[in-house]
Amino acid sequence: MGKFVKVARIQDVPSGQGTMVEVEGLQIGLFNSDGTFYAIDNVCTHAGGSLSVGLVENGRVACPWHGAWFDLKTGAALSPPASEGVRFYPTRVQGTDIEIELED
Ligand code: FES
Repeated sequence: MGKFVKVARIQDVPSGQGTMVEVEGLQIGLFNSDGTFYAIDNVCTHAGGSLSVGLVENGRVACPWHGAWFDLKTGAALSPPASEGVRFYPTRVQGTDIEIELED
């Protein structure tokens, strides 16, 4: 069982956008896809693109560098040139706060 940590407020991440948060030495991409929040590692597994500035669409994000798609629900890589997924973090909303679950 991990611990939930506040990383942003819901108004910080408008629908269809992402932002990068740093928590406990991790760079995490936080996304709002149609009102649902997701958190995955921010660094693309292909060559290091910053996923938080990529296109967010239908529960997926496209890497801004070479266009690989990642599933925001699981972190899985959905299309080349990325072949490996990124880590996924469970996310919840508490009042106006967005929290993600980190391992202890
Ligand atoms: S760095 Fe992300 S697709 Fe190349």
